[in-house]
Amino acid sequence: MTKEKIKFPKIKVKNSGVVSLQFYNDFPDGNLVIGEALKNVPFAIKRLYFINSLFNKQAHRGLHAHKKLEQIIFCINGSFTLKLDDGKNKQSIKMDNPYYGVRLGPLLWHTMEKFSADCVILVLAADYYKESDYLRNYEEFKKFIKK
Ligand code: TYD
Repeated sequence: MTKEKIKFPKIKVKNSGVVSLQFYNDFPDGNLVIGEALKNVPFAIKRLYFINSLFNKQAHRGLHAHKKLEQIIFCINGSFTLKLDDGKNKQSIKMDNPYYGVRLGPLLWHTMEKFSADCVILVLAADYYKESDYLRNYEEFKKFIKK
């Protein structure tokens, strides 16, 4: 079974990193991609959500940080641009490879944009949805990280 090396950009912001999934892409009947909690996914998964129907070319999602939540974001179809900002360093990553996810750790302002119409985003989260964990205002985020 082929495990071809596919390059992914180095992550330069804090509280992030690359998560590499196991994959089998030499099947004539489609690829198989696998993540396992506490193995290549570095936490126990309590929640998943996905985003599809991204037909609006002007769409922007994210635009927030979390106080404590750990998440991994994948682009499992199509492409989008993920912008990360740890308050000091910024990085823009083209997400177009279903075999790699990016860790969205705490205190990482993130924005998703430039979606292809066929884009499907999958997010694995270490906790349930909790609005009180969100920092939805950039100035509030900057103040919070200085604490
Ligand atoms: P939000 O996290 O801001 O979406 P995104 O980062 O993808 O742009 O959430 C959008 C809305 O959906 C917000 O009102 C909260 C709600 N929501 C839930 O109820 N549960 C969830 O697990 C998530 C992710 C969002």
